[in-house]
Amino acid sequence: MLVSWNTTNACNLKCSHCYRSAGEVASGELGFEEGRQFLQGAERAGFRVIVFSGGEPLLRPDIFELIAYAKSLGLRPVCGTNGTLLTPVTVTRLKEAGVAVVGISLDSIDHEKHDHFRGVDGSWQAALDGAANCRAAGLPFQLHTTVFPWNYQEIEALNDLAVGIGARGHHVFFFVPTGRGRGREETIEPRLSEDLLARLLERQARLPIEIKPTCAPQFVRVARQRRLPSRFQRGCLAGISYCIIGPQGDVYPCPYMDLKIGNVRQQPFDEIWKHNEVFLKLRTEQYEGYCGICAYRGLCGGCRARSYAETGGNFMGEDPLCLYKDEQEDKIRPLAEQVIIRLQSGLPLVPEPYKALAGELGVTQGRVLKAIRWLCAKGIVRRLGAAFDLRSLGYVSTLCAGRVPLDRVEAVAAIINAYPGVTHNYLREHDYNLWFTLIAASEERLSRLIQEIRQRTGIDDIISLPALRTFKIAVNFPDEELRGVFTGALD
Ligand SMILES: C[S@@+](CC[C@H](N)C(=O)[O-])C[C@H]1O[C@@H](n2cnc3c(N)ncnc32)[C@H](O)[C@@H]1O
Ligand code: SF4
Ligand code: SF4
Repeated sequence: MLVSWNTTNACNLKCSHCYRSAGEVASGELGFEEGRQFLQGAERAGFRVIVFSGGEPLLRPDIFELIAYAKSLGLRPVCGTNGTLLTPVTVTRLKEAGVAVVGISLDSIDHEKHDHFRGVDGSWQAALDGAANCRAAGLPFQLHTTVFPWNYQEIEALNDLAVGIGARGHHVFFFVPTGRGRGREETIEPRLSEDLLARLLERQARLPIEIKPTCAPQFVRVARQRRLPSRFQRGCLAGISYCIIGPQGDVYPCPYMDLKIGNVRQQPFDEIWKHNEVFLKLRTEQYEGYCGICAYRGLCGGCRARSYAETGGNFMGEDPLCLYKDEQEDKIRPLAEQVIIRLQSGLPLVPEPYKALAGELGVTQGRVLKAIRWLCAKGIVRRLGAAFDLRSLGYVSTLCAGRVPLDRVEAVAAIINAYPGVTHNYLREHDYNLWFTLIAASEERLSRLIQEIRQRTGIDDIISLPALRTFKIAVNFPDEELRGVFTGALD
């Protein structure tokens, strides 16, 4: 398990993509003692690796002491830096403090492109000098590159550069548009991302250093599909075996997800890690959209941050940067359309209805079930289930309407919803504003329940409007209109 700590927001560079929007020291950054407490919490929570990151961590005066303290706790400290401050003296101090490996950012083989992107002339040369200083001191280092359309073609050359300068690895970060990078249309397309992942995995098999795609969880799927070896068993680690702490102690599932879920000043880090609702939800792996039914969901998991960014806050949704999803959906869609049109006229009343449906449509039962699961995962179908004729089963039902003060609606609805005989309730713009349906085994029981609800909610004015005659309307859409609804839901 791995935890990152943005130890400071201060930075000597001005990269346009920076998820931390780093530059100045943030007010109220965690002090030394608070940092030590967080590290103790990380150790108690079972983390093994701690990444000291930033901003630029080497601008933090107590960074060496913090690293040494992490080491004394039995953690494996590593440091992510832009490399420009890695002088021989600093490298020696890092080594003495116990840093296991230093990650140095290098985004191009061309010094002008790197300097332009990182906002400071000379940063490329300074980073390479830093790498040379690490090599001279025997401190292991690796290169970090963030991929954009403008450096996409250089990644293999950067792999080779990493080998040439004695790096032990090259980690390739896939850009996530957040922080200062928000709104930038610089994410590479799914097709290019997929190609690059395959190229990186092939290179990994041939090169003597570790080549690792980061924040492109599909690499685990690509490795499986192409039978390429990969040391990594899981794609997105957010909340499962990874999280990050901001400079002021805020806890996030991942650097690229702008979702604060706790603060180590208010609650020990290990408690947040074990009990926080967002972490618990991420660990269920019950994703929505295509990721929810994908055969690779347990290995890949989709990028939770991209889902969060694209859906305006749903971190369990599908990952938009996935070619496999696009390809699979193109295959499922025509059958799903046929299935939904056919389902409008009912499910065959036979012991194996989906098999019968599959026979009618000339496909396998498995494909029908997959199409139905997909329709549900995409939210096109909300519920597929039986509707009972309760009268013929001996039950009675009524529609109730209550006059509920607006500030009590939530509380009253909660009491009403707890009754098993309530199928649903809803608000209406009317004096009688809260409406619900109620089912019971007899008229007498129905009246008693309504009286009980009046007493428990304190709302006396609840009227009962039992059905006198029932009419069943088949709400079937014309096929074309249904296809339109179907397409609209996906656009
Ligand atoms: C935030 S920096 C902190 C450490 C150090 N200042 C550096 O630049 O390496 C950590 C890494 O995240 C990468 N990074 C920053 N913003 C990113 C984004 N929006 N998407 C992907 N990677 C990003 C940086 O390029 C860098 O390699
Ligand atoms: S990516 Fe690193 S070097 Fe660039 S601004 Fe952010 S913290 Fe500074
Ligand atoms: S659909 Fe989701 S889980 Fe499946 S490979 Fe793509 S991102 Fe991963």
